[in-house]
Amino acid sequence: MRTLNVELAERSYPIHIGAGLIDAPELILPYLKTRRVAVITNDVVGPLYLERFAAGLEAQGLQVVRIVLPDGEAHKDWPTLNRIFDALLAARCDRGTTLIALGGGVVGDMVGFAAATYQRGVPFIQVPTTLLSQVDSSVGGKTAINHPLGKNMIGAFYQPRLVLADTQVLDTLPERELKAGLAEVIKYGLIRDLPFLEWIEARLDRLLARDPDALAEAVERSCRNKAEVVAADETEQGERATLNLGHTFGHAIETGLGYGEWLHGEAVAAGAIMAADLSRRLGWLSDADVARIVRVHVQAGLPVLGAPLGVARYLELMSHDKKVADGQLRLVLLKAVGRAVISAEATAEQIGATIEACCQA
Ligand code: NAD
Ligand code: GLY
Repeated sequence: MRTLNVELAERSYPIHIGAGLIDAPELILPYLKTRRVAVITNDVVGPLYLERFAAGLEAQGLQVVRIVLPDGEAHKDWPTLNRIFDALLAARCDRGTTLIALGGGVVGDMVGFAAATYQRGVPFIQVPTTLLSQVDSSVGGKTAINHPLGKNMIGAFYQPRLVLADTQVLDTLPERELKAGLAEVIKYGLIRDLPFLEWIEARLDRLLARDPDALAEAVERSCRNKAEVVAADETEQGERATLNLGHTFGHAIETGLGYGEWLHGEAVAAGAIMAADLSRRLGWLSDADVARIVRVHVQAGLPVLGAPLGVARYLELMSHDKKVADGQLRLVLLKAVGRAVISAEATAEQIGATIEACCQA
């Protein structure tokens, strides 16, 4: 097992990474307030892992409330969030109950938000089961649900007590989801860790073949990057925004097409290429840099052209971005491969030209 720490003073917490960790409930016990937990999952992950995980907790003498939500990004919404509250209240869960998110980023983001708000805040633990959630969403305390006008628009910063990333459960992850997770792995290389990008470029075949050692290292190096950024800027006053490379374009795709049409990681991949193209237009990246960024996404089996929404619709959707300040759109761009900045320098014309050049006709 590999362990990292997210250093946030009294709210610091460990990230344990390793094969078979969902069968190690003893790792969870030290982080509980009482002997009552609610394990919240969905109707895809539940049949695969819920009983095994819950039985392990019960064998430790815990009382386990099981909550199963409908699967999918389209259900990251108020009605589904309410189902969590309904179940917690029906089971008379009190402030000592720890919520455990067993699933991908959708479950993790929703359970985190439920934990932040149920009875004004209860402890929670992340047990991420997708590559994307192991390398990104389970770490750092961003919790949210979607609004029809924008992704992740309703939420809270609320840190988990523990992240338990079992790399073995990635065996059952659909291929398309594995590739979507790689988009966020590549992101860390692009924004702040050139040696990691080189490592990824050399190991994409092994990652796609689910080589356990390669996956565990990718999760660890991704989480190390994320933990450093979160420790420096927990509530995204500055540097943390660079973790959103490709997300402003990507969120426009997800919202514009309807949640769930493109996977989040797919939209982030196409968005990262748009950000690279725009960085080239600003004179920061060379043609060869952009070609390299396209190549690594192609090798990972990710889309490299955005959805055909049209320039006007992209700009309208992007105007809802959380990085808009005083009405001005700020984008995460690349000063160099391995160095991201937050910039308002691109003009609407340049952004439009990028959208024209980097989206399906
Ligand atoms: P997801 O949660 O929808 O999971 C993808 C699919 O895989 C789902 O159908 C899920 O049920 C299934 N699944 C999960 N684990 C499985 C397993 N082990 N075996 C088989 N199937 C499994 O999607 P995701 O990519 O994990 O997360 C995307 C979400 O994360 C988006 O809503 C995005 O906004 C959010 N996100 C949040 C942050 C953050 O910092 N909070 C960061 C990045 C992304
Ligand atoms: N995924 C972006 C962040 O956690 O800040």
